[in-house]
Amino acid sequence: MCGIFGYIGEKNPLQVCLRGLKQLEYRGYDSAGISGIFEGRLLTFKEASKVNYLEDKVIPKDLKMEIAIGHTRWATHGKPTLLNAHPHSDGKNSLALVHNGVIENYETLKEMLKNKGVTFNSDTDTEVIVQLISFFYKQDLKKAVFRALKLLKGSLAIAVIHKDTPDLIVAACRESPLCIGYNEEKTEALVSSDPNAFLGKSLQVLFLKNEEVACIRRKEVLVYDKNGKKIEKPIEKFDAEYEAPSKDGFEHFMLKEIFEQPLTIQKAILGRYSEDFGTAEFENLSFSSKDLAAVSNVLIIACGTSFLAGNIAAALLEEKARIPTHTEIASEFRYKNPIITKGTLIIAISQSGETADTIAAVREAKAKGAKVLGICNVKNSTLTRESDSCLFLKAGPEISVCSTKAFTSQIAVLSLFTLYMARLRHYSKEEGTTFIQDLKKIPQKLKQVLDKAPEMRQLAEKYSKYENFFFLGRRYMHFTCLEAALKLKEISYVNANGYPAGELKHGPIALLDENLPIAAFCANKQTYEKILTNLLEAKARGAPILAFAPVGSEELLAIADDIFWLPSTCDEFAVFPSTVAGQLFAYYIAKIRGTDIDQPRNLAKSVTVE
Ligand code: F6R
Repeated sequence: MCGIFGYIGEKNPLQVCLRGLKQLEYRGYDSAGISGIFEGRLLTFKEASKVNYLEDKVIPKDLKMEIAIGHTRWATHGKPTLLNAHPHSDGKNSLALVHNGVIENYETLKEMLKNKGVTFNSDTDTEVIVQLISFFYKQDLKKAVFRALKLLKGSLAIAVIHKDTPDLIVAACRESPLCIGYNEEKTEALVSSDPNAFLGKSLQVLFLKNEEVACIRRKEVLVYDKNGKKIEKPIEKFDAEYEAPSKDGFEHFMLKEIFEQPLTIQKAILGRYSEDFGTAEFENLSFSSKDLAAVSNVLIIACGTSFLAGNIAAALLEEKARIPTHTEIASEFRYKNPIITKGTLIIAISQSGETADTIAAVREAKAKGAKVLGICNVKNSTLTRESDSCLFLKAGPEISVCSTKAFTSQIAVLSLFTLYMARLRHYSKEEGTTFIQDLKKIPQKLKQVLDKAPEMRQLAEKYSKYENFFFLGRRYMHFTCLEAALKLKEISYVNANGYPAGELKHGPIALLDENLPIAAFCANKQTYEKILTNLLEAKARGAPILAFAPVGSEELLAIADDIFWLPSTCDEFAVFPSTVAGQLFAYYIAKIRGTDIDQPRNLAKSVTVE
């Protein structure tokens, strides 16, 4: 999704900004642009496509700008065109601005400005901000930004430059992350919506909070609260780990990340259990065992794939730790009046740690006094900073827009957390040790699934002609099949609806015929006989059946048209091999259908708008 990067300092700002924008590319975007000040003039370059094209356009000009701000845009208001791409500038081409977020009252403000003679060139909400600042500008950029902020409703992270002040970037934020980094020698300062874009530099970093405004100069960074009072901000030392994204010989990031899972699961659990004590151990878990023993109920909040992982975790927490657990989609939770008691623990799950709805839900929960445990993959992300305690996935950067390895790592980490909670309650040491031993076997079982990728490709050849699918599963396989259906939808643009299999006869069965295949996730032993009956009902209506089932499920031979055999596991961990099989199925269908797997249409990696 949208990304901001700005630079002032001794290096060439244009080139540093281009490198910064490349670091933000993985978030998903449709257009990119850079503005800078060169010999007293404001220059802007944009492309309604990738940063590489922008680079081809600007590098030959060899401009040593004094300052530059850049942006990658993921369209919300207006199509992904050149005119709608950021940076936006005012009518006099004197100031330029980049923006993440959504301005809710932009239409009213646009009308107001039009009545005062201001002309607009784009369909964006962002242009309202730049025109408003320009309208208020009287030789003082900070003052104009403050005046504009008072009128703007919605979420924003902005960086603004003006041709009269070629040594200054003014930045501000509300409900959208923005951070500033500078080196100890004070020879350069950077601003970005994501500190991981700071290019492997060792920097002092400060994170802006709501309504704060910063004046960034090479030698100093001054921050003001919403009343314009100068404030001291806590500074963090930040070493941005720089790992150039690489496909390691795989055709797509998605495939690479699917194949990484035996390793990422190992990393997620390594050093986090004790077989001797049959329990889990977490570094940096800042809740005491007394706090966690007192938890009476858990509420899990997340979006998308992370939400589906949350549902599997909820089933584990209820079954193994006997703790009442609910899940809520973060975008719904934030508008409820949630019931949070002294004993409620909130678990917020987010791969990126930047999902706007999840962050807003966390803030809402905290405002009600809840304790929040974050489950996150990205260090220094907003979730990690705002949770009371955080468990990291350690899965390494997930570049593919389709989340794969983060999902299985979320479940691995939450399985261990469940074990910890269960051991604080009724679970015996022996039960704990068996749980750990079963979990430790998972990486090896995933390798067995991955070895069968060519077989999955053949199945995908057969099933790629269908435009609609039903995905069915029961108990732990219910949310596993929803995740597999989500993967198929987002990567191959094929419609796939997931259901708990017993629900089929309550309506969806009306759709079944020979054109609607069923992907049946049969690895839940507890409900195995039940799903067989559900599949017989589907077969009687002519639906083709592809089963994902553990070896030994011989009864399926008489029911399913095709079976992808999986290694056998206990019920709670069957999610791992079944998920990897679902990921491979979605990947190969997408590949056969020729979709752009690394850039699926309309999607962004990090969803930073509401
Ligand atoms: C699906 C996918 C999305 C994300 C969702 C939440 O493949 O990637 O559904 O899971 O946008 O993202 P995070 O986990 O970063 O909060």
